[in-house]
Amino acid sequence: MCGIVGYIGTQTAKEILLAGLERLEYRGYDSAGIATVVDGKIHSIRSKGKLHKLREKAEKELILSKAGIGHTRWATHGKPEEHNAHPHMDNNNRIAVVQNGIIENYQNLKEKLSSKGYQFLSETDTEVIPNLIADLLPSPNSDTDLIYPSPLFKAVLESIKLLDGAFAMAIISSDYPDELMVVRQQAPIVLGFGQGEFFCASDVTALVPYTSTVLSLENGEIARLTPLGVEIYDFSGHRLKKIPHLLDWNPMSVEKQGFRHYMLKEIYEQPSVVRNCLEKYINKDWNPNKNLNCNPINLNLSPELYENLEQINILACGTSWHASLVGRYLLEKLANIPTRVQYASEFRYAPSPITANTLTIGVTQSGETADTLAALETEKQRRKDTNSIYKSRLIGITNRPETTLATIVDQIIDTQAGIEIGVAATKTFLAQLMAFYFLAIDLGYRRQTLSGGEIQLIIDGFRQLPEKIEEILKTQERRIQELAHNYLEAKDFIFVGRGINFPIALEGALKLKEISYIHAEGYPAGELKHGPIALLDSKVTVVSIAMAGKVYDKAISNAQEAKARDAHLIGVVSTNDTNATLTFDDLLPIPEVDELLSPMLTVIPLQILSYHIAAKRGLDVDQPRNLAKSVTVE
Ligand code: F6R
Repeated sequence: MCGIVGYIGTQTAKEILLAGLERLEYRGYDSAGIATVVDGKIHSIRSKGKLHKLREKAEKELILSKAGIGHTRWATHGKPEEHNAHPHMDNNNRIAVVQNGIIENYQNLKEKLSSKGYQFLSETDTEVIPNLIADLLPSPNSDTDLIYPSPLFKAVLESIKLLDGAFAMAIISSDYPDELMVVRQQAPIVLGFGQGEFFCASDVTALVPYTSTVLSLENGEIARLTPLGVEIYDFSGHRLKKIPHLLDWNPMSVEKQGFRHYMLKEIYEQPSVVRNCLEKYINKDWNPNKNLNCNPINLNLSPELYENLEQINILACGTSWHASLVGRYLLEKLANIPTRVQYASEFRYAPSPITANTLTIGVTQSGETADTLAALETEKQRRKDTNSIYKSRLIGITNRPETTLATIVDQIIDTQAGIEIGVAATKTFLAQLMAFYFLAIDLGYRRQTLSGGEIQLIIDGFRQLPEKIEEILKTQERRIQELAHNYLEAKDFIFVGRGINFPIALEGALKLKEISYIHAEGYPAGELKHGPIALLDSKVTVVSIAMAGKVYDKAISNAQEAKARDAHLIGVVSTNDTNATLTFDDLLPIPEVDELLSPMLTVIPLQILSYHIAAKRGLDVDQPRNLAKSVTVE
C-alpha cells in the first residue's frame, strides 16, 4: 500500500520522482504528491486522484531541485483528499515526509504536539512525523552533536524511536538540502545506487530504468543518502556495513509492450511462466525407468524441512489463498499429507493449535503482504523455544524472492513468474499452482505415495500445458471479448466448481468482482442447494466448471438445478464435450486435460472473461478502486 520514491543526485528530481511514482501507482492511487527543496524552502505539489493529475500540475512548474521525495497513496487515515495527500510538512515547512504504513500512536503524539502549539491540517497519522522531527531539530546555526552524522539524522532517529507501528518513510529538510533520510520498520523500502545519484523506492520497479544496483533496507534501519553516497545505521545509531546486490531484471518487464492493460499482458505471459517453471524445477535426469534414486523435482529445499513431516500448514490471503486451496488438494491427494489452509489475516489473532513436525508455507505474490508476514512471524515466534519436534520450518512461495518474505522463512520457492503489475493477480496465481504441483510431486516421491509411472504421467501432462494455454488465448480470447458484451449490465454472478476446481470458482468470482465491480460469489457446486440456490432467477448468471473427470456428472446435475431456476448458465467445459450445449447457454471451452491438471486451464477463460467485462465497462482494469497490489498494512 502506498508507493514512496526519493532521489538525490545530479539530475532534476521532479521527472525522476514522477516517473518513479508512475511505476509504483499499482500500490495505491487515490492521491499523490512530491516535495523538493527550492530556494531554501520545501516546495510541494499534491493532487487528489490518479497520478496524471499530479503530473499535469507539476508540468506547469519549472523545478530544478536535485533532491526530492514522492508518494502515491492508498488511504488509511483520512479520506483521499488533497490535504491528506503526502508529502506532509511541519508547521514551518522545514521538513517533508512521505510514509507507507500506519503510526499506531499518532493520536497520542498529536495531543502532545498540539499542547506545544503545533497545528494539524490533515486527518492523517503521518502528519505527526514532520512535526516531531521539526520539534527535535536544532536551528541550522546551533552546535552539531558529533556522535551523529548530521543534526537532521539525529532528529529523525530520535523521532522514529517515539513511533509505534509499521512504516517506511523518506524525509527531506530545507535546512539540509543535501540529505535524504530513509527509514524502514516493518514496511518495504529499497535503495538504488547510481553514479553520483541515489534513490529509494517502495519497490524496485521504480528503480529499474535508472540502476540495477539495489539494497533492501531491513527493519530497524535508517539510511542517509547524500550526493556523495549512502550510509546505513541501525536505530541505535550504529553504522552498518551492507553490500548492495545486482538485479537481473529486464526493464521491459515493467512495460505494457503494446497491450492495452498490464492484466492482459500478464494473462498472455502465462505460457512462458509455465515453461520457465518446468525448465527450472523438473529434473532433467529424471527417468522413471532408469534411475529410481533421482528425484523428479528439484526444489532445492533442505532435507530438514522434509524430515518426519506430519502436517503442512499454509498461510495466505486473497488469490494466494485460493492457490493454497488447490495446493491442499494436491498435497493431500498426491503426498497423503494432512494440510490446513488458513487466512493469514485470521491466523495471527486466532492461531490453530501448534502441531509437531509441521511445515508452514507462506504464499504471497508480492512477498510483502503484512497479514501474511505477520502470520509467519507469529508462527516462527511461538515455535522458537519449543521442543525440536515443534521447531518451525518455514517456506515461502512467491515470484518476488528479493522481498521481506525471504527474511522470515527458511527457504523460498521462486515461482518464476517475475513481477506482476496489474492489481488482479493472474500469472502469479498460475505460477503458485505450479509450485504446489511440484511440491506435492516432490513429497509424493519422497513419501512413496506416487509411483514413477504416475509422476511421469503428471509431468507429461504438464509439458503440454503451455501449448494448451496458447490455444485458449488464440482461439478464445476474441470470442470471450464478444461474449463479454452480454454481461455488461449483469448484477450477480455465482461461480461453482467441485473438487480441485472449487478454488477456481472462488478465484473466478474474485477476479470478476475486483475489476468489474459486479457482485460475484464462488461456491462448491454441491453447496448451491444448501442456500445460495434461493438467489437464482433469470437475472443471475451461474458459471459452472464442468470438466471431464470424476465430478463431471455431479457438476452437470448441479448446473441443471440452476437452469431449472431460470439462471443463465455459462459452462467451462472441454472442447470435446459435445453435450455441453444441452446444459449451458454459453460455453468457455478449453482443451482436453486430465482433471488433476485442469485448474491450470480452467482459470484462464475466467481471467479473460473478467478482463473483458471490466474493460468494456470502461473501468481501470489495472488499478481497480479501493485496491492496491501490495497490501502492506494489516
Ligand atoms: C486478487 C489479489 C489479492 C491478493 C491478496 C494477497 O487478484 O491480487 O487478493 O491475492 O491481496 O496478496 P499477495 O499474494 O501479494 O500476498
